[in-house]
Amino acid sequence: MRIILGVGGGIAAYKVASLLRLFTEAGHDVTVIPTDAATRFVGTATWEALSGNPVSNSVFDDVDKVNHVRLGQHADLVVVAPATADLLARAAAGMANDLLTGTLLMASCPVLMAPAMHTEMWHHHATAANVATLRGRGITVLEPASGRLTGTDSGAGRLPEPADIFTAAIAAHDSAHAAAESPRGSLAGRRVVITAGGTREPIDPVRYLGNRSSGKQGMALAVAALAEGATVELIVAQIEVPAPDGVELVQVETAEELRTATLRAAKQADALIMAAAVADFRPAQATLTKIKKRADGVDPVITLVRNPDILREAVEHRAAAGAGPVIVGFAAETGDLTAHPLDHAREKLARKGCDYLVLNQVGGGKVFGLDDTIATILDAAGAEPVEVIGTKAEVATAVVARVAAALAGRG
Ligand code: CTP
Repeated sequence: MRIILGVGGGIAAYKVASLLRLFTEAGHDVTVIPTDAATRFVGTATWEALSGNPVSNSVFDDVDKVNHVRLGQHADLVVVAPATADLLARAAAGMANDLLTGTLLMASCPVLMAPAMHTEMWHHHATAANVATLRGRGITVLEPASGRLTGTDSGAGRLPEPADIFTAAIAAHDSAHAAAESPRGSLAGRRVVITAGGTREPIDPVRYLGNRSSGKQGMALAVAALAEGATVELIVAQIEVPAPDGVELVQVETAEELRTATLRAAKQADALIMAAAVADFRPAQATLTKIKKRADGVDPVITLVRNPDILREAVEHRAAAGAGPVIVGFAAETGDLTAHPLDHAREKLARKGCDYLVLNQVGGGKVFGLDDTIATILDAAGAEPVEVIGTKAEVATAVVARVAAALAGRG
């Protein structure tokens, strides 16, 4: 799962490095958000190295990614340790004056806070009131441990042991899920990652290489997966239709960005459906300034280089890990003088190594941007191809049904 680990500005911050290790070794994807004060105790380099993810604590870093909104929205669990008296106060007051408190306001997932401070601070009426407020909102605030504190004093206020915080955090997450209304549908409890739309490859600041993908098929797949109770992460490049409500939306532009987002998301997914139209080539170099017409009449030559094959890489990563998502590819084929579209699709299914390939026959105005389509679903396990003639929603329902059946078959 995706965990946000908020680190407060207390000396116990150093113990949180062990907590982070426990989470990552259990296979969780952890993003650390230290407060400014926390970085005086343990530097961001430590958190980056141990989590394998970039670390920031300012809402003004990577503004284009709107991190103060995105991180909280996408988290499955938020853990704050050490939760200092100041951090508890700011969280109780609903402040959002740094990335961590902003994230806490955005998070709708379970939140656990592990306090650490001096005994007097812990017993102060202000802290007690803040803890009561937070607990009243459903946040798990652990009792601090008792024992030796930073100086010569001892008493209640020590950070609980990392192993205890780990166990309590996982339990808080699991019980919140068990208590939540158990969703129905063939993909209930499953995480489905869908890519959609067409990538854009910059030539210069104003021009790009693009394609005609509208994103409609990807949106229809997201709707169909949501209807079956799945948690859907939708990674979109350029789309002409709005994304449905209820998905975790990730916006990308280029094939390289799509690759990073997809391979990361695939690690946590039960199914990966690659409906995006990925540019096979990109300009070798995007110029920093606009390419102008030259007075000497010499026109520019744009050299293209090949983009990575994301679908193939996802299949390879799954093979290397020994387990992973059911993977579905799409292929738009025209056929040619030597081969029928179905022959090209069979060859592509074998070459890409995915479990299913959805063939759309294109050309002559078919498929791109239209609502109706003819699709054939090919199965790598050898089942007869299934043809679906109808709307993109009907194709999506058929694809999602295959995915659900494959997952049910795995148990
Ligand atoms: N795809 C991908 N990465 C690429 C190109 C395509 O992941 N660089 C995915 C698409 O999302 C789609 C599938 O691969 O699910 C097939 O896309 P297509 O463009 O038809 O495949 P290509 O490998 O580019 O085949 P062709 O030889 O026909 O260009």
